[in-house]
Amino acid sequence: MPDQPALIARNLERSYGEGSSTARVLRDVSIELYPGRVVLLMGPSGSGKSTLLAVLSGLLRPDRGEVTILGRSLWTIRESARERFRLEHFGFIFQGFNLFPSLTAAEQLEMVVRWGEGASPREARRRVGAMLDQLGLGARGHIRADQLSGGEKQRVAVGRALLKNPRFCFADEPTGSLDWGHGEQVIRLLHAAARDQGAVLFVVGHDPRLIPYADRVVHMVDGRLSDEPASLEPTL
Ligand SMILES: Nc1ncnc2c1ncn2[C@@H]1O[C@H](COP(=O)(O)OP(=O)(O)OP(=O)(O)O)[C@@H](O)[C@H]1O
Ligand SMILES: [Mg+2]
Repeated sequence: MPDQPALIARNLERSYGEGSSTARVLRDVSIELYPGRVVLLMGPSGSGKSTLLAVLSGLLRPDRGEVTILGRSLWTIRESARERFRLEHFGFIFQGFNLFPSLTAAEQLEMVVRWGEGASPREARRRVGAMLDQLGLGARGHIRADQLSGGEKQRVAVGRALLKNPRFCFADEPTGSLDWGHGEQVIRLLHAAARDQGAVLFVVGHDPRLIPYADRVVHMVDGRLSDEPASLEPTL
């Protein structure tokens, strides 16, 4: 197991709003993420989990603090360089899935391999078919995203993030709208991406059944990270 963190975040602060309506969402958050390991971030709704994910992954600028990824300071490089870095190294699974409604499940995935990597149509079809099978969507590839169920969309989003074998995968509630059978399938895939490809997996989730698949569980408590849940946070 490599001992060097691939991502180091130091003293992150982030607020929304101004003046008396300012909400301080992140207060002095520091964390290190290691290749090959799954970190699960838990915490009540509105506690800042998606905000932290966005700051760590180059989508939302912190007010203060630093994120260093593979030795580069994510928030001091230019926007274009940050964008390239994200495209090259990051896979995302967002809370809202962000699929293209008029493309089929298979087309959403083929785009990643064909345009992202320049694979041939045949190679793209092969890899996409294998991924859809792994996600239990083998028979749904030809269905348009706007006709898929919430859980099917979610699994397509997971496939899209993992297909390019990213070095970092940021997943916001990747099992949120899935029954546990499919949820377990998804967390197993994410876990395998960490184990087999040495990816950094940063997963936001609230289901305690995810815990056994995590190498470390951290909790958002009053804008800070804690190894223990907030005392009032329900355990289920
Ligand atoms: N763009 C924004 N402008 C103003 N406030 C925001 C914005 N985004 C988030 N917030 C506020 O910041 C707080 C943290 O939001 P965030 O989305 O990070 O929470 P979360 O832990 O991901 O919640 P959930 O579990 O419901 O997804 C919330 O109070 C939210 O209302
Ligand atoms: Mg959220």
